[in-house]
Amino acid sequence: MIPEIVIEKLLKAKRVAVLTGAGISAESGVPTFRGEGGIWNKLKPEELANFDAFMRNPKLVWEWYNMRKNLISDIKPNQGHYSLVELEKIYGSGFSLATQNIDNLHIRAGSKNVFELHGNIERSYCINCRKYYHDMVIDENKAVPYCQCGGIIRPDVVWFGENLPEEEINLSVEAAKQSDFYFSIGTSGNVYPAAGLPGIAKRNGAFTLEINLERTLISDEFDITLTGKSGDILPEIVKLLREERT
Ligand code: OAD
Repeated sequence: MIPEIVIEKLLKAKRVAVLTGAGISAESGVPTFRGEGGIWNKLKPEELANFDAFMRNPKLVWEWYNMRKNLISDIKPNQGHYSLVELEKIYGSGFSLATQNIDNLHIRAGSKNVFELHGNIERSYCINCRKYYHDMVIDENKAVPYCQCGGIIRPDVVWFGENLPEEEINLSVEAAKQSDFYFSIGTSGNVYPAAGLPGIAKRNGAFTLEINLERTLISDEFDITLTGKSGDILPEIVKLLREERT
């Protein structure tokens, strides 16, 4: 059941900004990081998602990313992703989507104005000359990919201790500040600066809505938290909004 105020605020909103986390892809079959079945329950981020670990054992890190890449290539975006594409059609250039996910599912679903805060698993780059590569898959014989310049190639994802891509985070902060309505979907609110975006939106006057299976560390920063699956709640919101707009 969607509270009436959510649709009322969306009807008035000109600028809608969204933050997504691993939860929005869970219904597509991508494991989340925390909570039940979370990746970090079994694996240690300091061994896999960290630059020093990569330099110590690039083969292990590449194997892990290739395993995730294979998993992602076999799955599809879900109704949550597609509902955000619908919202972008409604709000046009007033819509933006900041995601912590590296799985590329928002782009595959058709979202356009996407800020990739933690990179994208389908891109890689040379740590020496910064040349970008797409769809880089480990060469079994060489174990680790190398650039023509001789530099080692790494996945274009943000690891622990690294800065976020400057333009993406600046655009996300600006979108949060300017938004009339801010959604935070499927994120546990553990990792900053992304987890700070809903608070920025609220302090700048946006109506803030969280969609998650459960309350999170940042739930207090929202006007409303809807508990449930994003793949159920988002299509319902889009349906009600379309009905009211016609
Ligand atoms: P988490 O794994 O920390 O949190 C996922 C959240 O999604 C949890 O709060 C779940 O309750 C919720 N959830 C699960 N299924 C859901 C569903 N169907 N509908 C709605 N919510 C659902 O993922 P993130 O918050 O994205 O960073 O994690 C942030 C960052 O931590 C990741 O980007 C990654 C990780 O370490 C890096 O790798 C840099």
